[in-house]
Amino acid sequence: MEDYRLLTDLHKNADRQGPGGDAETEKALDLAMIDRTAPLKIADIGCGTGASTLLLARLSNARITAVDFLADFLEVLEKRAKRMGLSDKITTLHCSMDNLPFGDEEYDVIWSEGAIYNIGFEKGVTDWKRFLKAGGTLVVSEITWMTDSRPAELQKHWEGEYPEIDNASSKTGVLEKNGYIPIGYFVLPEHCWMENYYRPMQDSFNDFLRRNGNSDEARAIVDAEQQEIELYEKYKTHYSYGVYIARKLD
Ligand SMILES: C[S@@+](CC[C@H](N)C(=O)[O-])C[C@H]1O[C@@H](n2cnc3c(N)ncnc32)[C@H](O)[C@@H]1O
Repeated sequence: MEDYRLLTDLHKNADRQGPGGDAETEKALDLAMIDRTAPLKIADIGCGTGASTLLLARLSNARITAVDFLADFLEVLEKRAKRMGLSDKITTLHCSMDNLPFGDEEYDVIWSEGAIYNIGFEKGVTDWKRFLKAGGTLVVSEITWMTDSRPAELQKHWEGEYPEIDNASSKTGVLEKNGYIPIGYFVLPEHCWMENYYRPMQDSFNDFLRRNGNSDEARAIVDAEQQEIELYEKYKTHYSYGVYIARKLD
């Protein structure tokens, strides 16, 4: 748990815990053709401190269940929701995404930004399908190869981190094979990584190290994040997050 304590400490004061952006969340909402006035039920899985949850609550008339397995993130989300007057629309759920207590066909929309990789894309879209109503909508972002072949260093890194990384046509195929109709796809642009996620994180490194007594563990986390950032800057043409939007078939 020490690792989680430090990771939570590094990330919980940030607006978001992964690449993304408000404009991109809104773009996904539009591509999904979600009726903003309807009293829909949305589950936001792996919500972190609520970057997408809060925006969806602001932009729609939906009630949102915000799920994360880190209680500290949910606490921040609750405070942010209160400050923004959105608490009535958001319920937090402290739970793992592979053990969700939802009923069959309970949700109109399942939303998940930068989080499904924790259980794997195929397992996530398969397991979560039963929680969606027939004709319900899935919106997930997933790390995706943008090019057909990659430098060996990059291939090795991501295959070690996440063997399920693949190109968009394969991910779309996984959706089709598992009873979804893909209806939209776009790629997160660079600012979603650098300006919205990596730069604010880098700006917080010194305070994080100071708070944690410059410990070896804290230093190791900063080094690992820094390496990930350098890899992104070097090879950003080859990968990004793809945002996949699909309808449940039956
Ligand atoms: C990269 S962050 C993305 C957070 C948020 N969606 C965003 O875009 O800012 C991944 C999130 O998934 C959560 N997470 C990781 N494994 C999980 C699990 N098994 N069940 C629920 N949440 C999990 C983490 O705590 C974290 O908040």
